[in-house]
Amino acid sequence: MNATSKKLISFGIAMIEKLKQIQDEIERKILEKAEDAEQFRLTYLSRKGKLNDLFEEFKAIPNDLKKETGKLMNQVKQLAQDKFNAAKEKFEDTSTITSNKYDLSLPAYPFIAGARHPLLLVEKKIVEIFNKLGFSLAYGPEIEDDWHNFSGLNFPDNHPARDMQDTFFIEKDIALRTHTSSVQVRLMENKKPPIRAIMPGRVYRNEAISARAHCFFHQIEGIYIDKKVSFADLKQTLYYFVQEMFGNDFKIRFRPSYFPFTEPSAEMDISCIICKGKGCNVCKHSGWVEILGCGMIDPNVLQDNGINPEEYSGFAFGMGIERITMLKYDVKDLRMFSINDVRFLQQFESE
Ligand code: PHE
Repeated sequence: MNATSKKLISFGIAMIEKLKQIQDEIERKILEKAEDAEQFRLTYLSRKGKLNDLFEEFKAIPNDLKKETGKLMNQVKQLAQDKFNAAKEKFEDTSTITSNKYDLSLPAYPFIAGARHPLLLVEKKIVEIFNKLGFSLAYGPEIEDDWHNFSGLNFPDNHPARDMQDTFFIEKDIALRTHTSSVQVRLMENKKPPIRAIMPGRVYRNEAISARAHCFFHQIEGIYIDKKVSFADLKQTLYYFVQEMFGNDFKIRFRPSYFPFTEPSAEMDISCIICKGKGCNVCKHSGWVEILGCGMIDPNVLQDNGINPEEYSGFAFGMGIERITMLKYDVKDLRMFSINDVRFLQQFESE
């Protein structure tokens, strides 16, 4: 063997070593993002890459080493190509929407929107109407003490509402509030007149559940206390409210009534919106539906809550949100509001 062929053989062996080194390098490379894959392609697969350089040198290798070197060279090239292809596919999947995994011409899935609860819709509407008249919003706790639910509102000690039959007591003198008038007391003790607010909330009474009554329901009450507030102000406020709520196509009447915390007191009826006054189940065939209680705040109540009745007067009113909602949406059974039947609730989807 002459010196030249010896030199060529060692050149071939060196090349095999180099290839093995590159193979090792390729195997170890971690391609974490699209840029890594591109860098990888440039280093190993491009025209100016490491493997292409070796193909040039390959031409000079002696024939009896060509087979082995060529095979290894193709293997390494294939390895690099496979690794690059896999990375490309992985990054293209998430980074391009043109991937043919998605058919953008298909129709979209139907979007099922939730519906607001009808009681909330009506509460929102009532709040909006009174906001326009300058009433702000106030809230209070559902678990109340005797003072805020009864005594501070002039309920005598022996009043039947204090009875276990009507009120859910938690312990002596602590009960689930029976009306949101308790928030009136909280407002009067914390604020100086003028006070003008409405108070929505859930209330509880120990009643048998039926189409017309439930052991929990919702109320909105309102008070207005200032100098020279009169019964005429109360009437005008409530006229405005019912017209905004129901329109003009009905009659209104006030009936004298009694509440311990107002004097004089009244109840307001509207001619039944559902049967147009002809008589139906909702109006108990009377043609009229009672929608709220109201009156001038009793001077004793003002006095007991630190407001001088010589200087200030005020009115209060309270209504059940369920009743208003039944009239507004022609719902004949109060239980529909709490049994969560989607067939009922879905009907309010577009509101
Ligand atoms: N609190 C009364 C009720 O629950 C309603 C009412 C409020 C009456 C304010 C008069 C004044 O029935």
